[in-house]
Amino acid sequence: MNVLTKYWPAQQAQLGVMEAAAAIAAGGVIAFPTETVYGLGGNARSTAAVERIFTAKGRPSDNPLIVHLANKKEVYSLAEHVNEVEEALMEAFWPGPLTLVLPVREGAVSPLVTAGLDTVAVRVPEHELARLLIEQSGCPIAAPSANRSGRPSPTQASHVLEDLNGRIDGVLDGGATGVGLESTVIRVVGRKVHILRPGGVTREQIQSIIGSTVEISPPNDRESSGSESTASVELAPRSPGVKYAHYAPKGEMILITGPMEKLAAAVQRKGDQAAASGRHVAIICCEEHSASYHAEAILVSGPYHAPETAAHSLYALLRECDERGIDYIVAEGYPEEGIGAALMNRLRKAAGGHEITVD
Ligand code: TXA
Ligand code: MG
Repeated sequence: MNVLTKYWPAQQAQLGVMEAAAAIAAGGVIAFPTETVYGLGGNARSTAAVERIFTAKGRPSDNPLIVHLANKKEVYSLAEHVNEVEEALMEAFWPGPLTLVLPVREGAVSPLVTAGLDTVAVRVPEHELARLLIEQSGCPIAAPSANRSGRPSPTQASHVLEDLNGRIDGVLDGGATGVGLESTVIRVVGRKVHILRPGGVTREQIQSIIGSTVEISPPNDRESSGSESTASVELAPRSPGVKYAHYAPKGEMILITGPMEKLAAAVQRKGDQAAASGRHVAIICCEEHSASYHAEAILVSGPYHAPETAAHSLYALLRECDERGIDYIVAEGYPEEGIGAALMNRLRKAAGGHEITVD
């Protein structure tokens, strides 16, 4: 595959959106900013366009895509039905980083988008350029994150070009994305909300709207731990995407969790061990600890009690490790409240399940 990838700088966003929308309407695939991460968009009704998305990313065809809509009322043309809880959540969080998995209306989108499932994932993004792009292209836009499959999601246009230059028709630059992690993917069953993938909208925020139980399906966070029973795996809806390696840097990574004051000693020990065996070591840590560490690279993710800052910067830091030839990363864990839950989910995935808990 070798196509010319057009680049529209942020200063030419208006022209960029017009040209990008025309390209999508004509069957092209364009990367664009959302408030979470950059997406790689194509007409969700066009099988040829959706095929190009899968090919450009190297994405397994059994992993379905999220359909992005310009506004809430379009959801009824894609979903077979929407219940009260889903209505309340869309009302509360759209536009924004919440994706709902709904029963799909037959023929509403290309079957490749849903990977043959009887559901479709939908969201209304909050980013102004995303909204304009969907409106002007005149079609629902299927868009996975705009990275090569398995790599950290792109939070800057330059990340998209690193992975997909020559494989897609264009990139609309909107600067760094805000949230920095992907949307929360949920499936509502009756009055229960199953969080299939934690993300930009937190469990606490969802709970404040629906008031009743919010269930997190157990396989999502620690699927490699093998601790969940078969029964719970069968009962809880799953996202096909969670079984794939994700968000991973090229180097090996280990996550150290536990109380804040116990982290630093364990992190330094791990880093020293790896350095002694000739590895190129990076430490990803909170602002408070950064001055106390010694390593080839010390990358500050943000204040310990502001996980939204670490969420915003995580993927860029993982990519920086790759660029600097780092082959061993030791990362500090964060408290799992609020956006910290999504942050820890991505750190665990990036570490491929390697985690040491100190107490
Ligand atoms: O923030 C985001 O969600 C970004 C931006 C571009 O919108 N998109 C994104 O897409 O992260 P992607 O393809 O990287 O992740 C979509 C996730 C995958 O885990 C996929 O398996 C799941 O959503 N998904 C999509 N359709 C589904 C369905 N019908 N049922 C269950 N899970 C689904
Ligand atoms: Mg992705």
